[in-house]
Amino acid sequence: MNKLEAIQKVVSSKIRTLAHDIAILNIPAEVEKGLQAAGSNQKFSLDALPPSLDWDTIKNNPAPGSEELFTNKENKRYPCWLPGDETLGDDWLLSSNYYPFYFRLYRHLAQKFQHPALLEFGVRSGYSGVVFAKAVEGPKSYFGVDPNLYVAKGLESAAATFSQLRKEGFGLQSFLIEGFSSSEAVQKTLSFSAPFDFIHVDGEHTLLGKILDLWIARNLVSENGYVLVDDFEHHGFIFESVKAACQSGWFSKFSYVPTKRGLAVLRV
Ligand SMILES: C[S@@+](CC[C@H](N)C(=O)[O-])C[C@H]1O[C@@H](n2cnc3c(N)ncnc32)[C@H](O)[C@@H]1O
Repeated sequence: MNKLEAIQKVVSSKIRTLAHDIAILNIPAEVEKGLQAAGSNQKFSLDALPPSLDWDTIKNNPAPGSEELFTNKENKRYPCWLPGDETLGDDWLLSSNYYPFYFRLYRHLAQKFQHPALLEFGVRSGYSGVVFAKAVEGPKSYFGVDPNLYVAKGLESAAATFSQLRKEGFGLQSFLIEGFSSSEAVQKTLSFSAPFDFIHVDGEHTLLGKILDLWIARNLVSENGYVLVDDFEHHGFIFESVKAACQSGWFSKFSYVPTKRGLAVLRV
């Protein structure tokens, strides 16, 4: 399959495709290979890879519930808590196996980094940033990229939330970039602050977008860092993207964390 055929396959298959997919025709050769791996029937088992973490140990650590995580010291919701989110889709916002699971992961895994840095593709209104800020003890940095596609003023809500967290003494530095992760300018900007200890891939929900984000993450993550891929079980193409990225040799370690929608944790 050549580049054009790979792209045609992606934009014509029965997955959600954004107009933006088609704009990224100048995709790197490695991403083209990733797309081809996703389209091939070659046998490859993620379970055969060594684990990226020991979830059985981490899962027993304590964590606050989402209500507590997203409530400030004045007993009010942070600005990231948007009207309607509580009833949007399933109970992702308040589920005990969604944000509290991320809390456990960040608290445990961040211990080995000094001043840990999280890069997130897909900020929305900033929920994940709050969890990171509260889970990681001591100073830490959060970098978020989002084109404000799903929520018009999402980055404004995130900025207001992070400002409150700073005033509350959570030691969070934050940098928000309005744009697409696929933008070369955005990638160049991020490269000046790389490597990142954690990268949360939760932005564009298409096969091409996910494979591209995994390739970008692979190049920006620190040697001992973690790439977290949300919705691993929620959309078939996300499972396919993770499999293709590992099959292409971008990551050599894999673990599955049973969050509400499934989470893949990868290491290079
Ligand atoms: C599922 S939401 C992210 C939720 C967030 N991680 C959290 O836990 O609160 C997905 C976000 O990805 C953003 N998005 C879509 N395409 C993107 C892209 N190419 N780069 C970065 N963000 C993107 C959308 O605007 C949306 O806000």
